[in-house]
Amino acid sequence: MPEHFLLDCEPVPFTPGQSVMAAAHAAGRYIPHLCWLPELTPHGACRLCTVRIGPHLAAACTTPAAAGMMVESQTAELIAQRRTMLQLLFVEGNHFCPSCERSGSCALQATAYAMGMLEPHFDPFYPERAVDASHPDMLLDFNRCILCALCVRASRELDGKNVFALAGRGLATRLVVDSASGRLADTAFSASDRAAQVCPVGALVPKRVGFARPIGQRVYDLHPIDEARSGDDDVAGPGGEALAR
Ligand code: SF4
Ligand code: FES
Repeated sequence: MPEHFLLDCEPVPFTPGQSVMAAAHAAGRYIPHLCWLPELTPHGACRLCTVRIGPHLAAACTTPAAAGMMVESQTAELIAQRRTMLQLLFVEGNHFCPSCERSGSCALQATAYAMGMLEPHFDPFYPERAVDASHPDMLLDFNRCILCALCVRASRELDGKNVFALAGRGLATRLVVDSASGRLADTAFSASDRAAQVCPVGALVPKRVGFARPIGQRVYDLHPIDEARSGDDDVAGPGGEALAR
């Protein structure tokens, strides 16, 4: 008989060492997240998965599940905090959904809808960031990068390549490419790499297929993200690679 914790008053089984997020996901329960995938080491960067465990707030993706734990993930307080985090993410980069090829298959956009975000609230930073179009098959648009480090971890842990890294600290943190020129074309990166398939936003996208699937028929157009990203019903696939963009 597996041990259980309570997630929003419903029992969730877990195995020793499993995080609250991993157990919830395996049980088909959605906790909002942008920087977590089941097959990668958790990074704890986006804080979208913050839940309340008794008097404490904790990241579900890095907190080990424990028997008898009472976890709240859907309180008005948590949803409001997530909305603010999402608003900050939107203004920190250049996220212009109507002109982005990931519109409808973007986890940032879909999570914002799910949390009831109606406007960005804060003044946009409008950062000036270069686009790296050097690679023959993949485009890297730093304007849309949310620094989730999924590509960093996928390249290192699944592809064995270390193509990407996060450099700098605080507001100066940025994604960098590991080549002498700093260009993606000068790395061993391939469109068939797992790292090419995990970007939750439109920062790392394949070329020449941007609008192959029409807007209105994309995964989050058809399924709200809390349905699309729940365990075995994960129709988006980890990182959204099944989106047929
Ligand atoms: Fe995350 Fe995409 Fe930026 Fe990589 S390029 S850190 S996957 S948002
Ligand atoms: Fe837990 Fe991002 S999913 S911090």
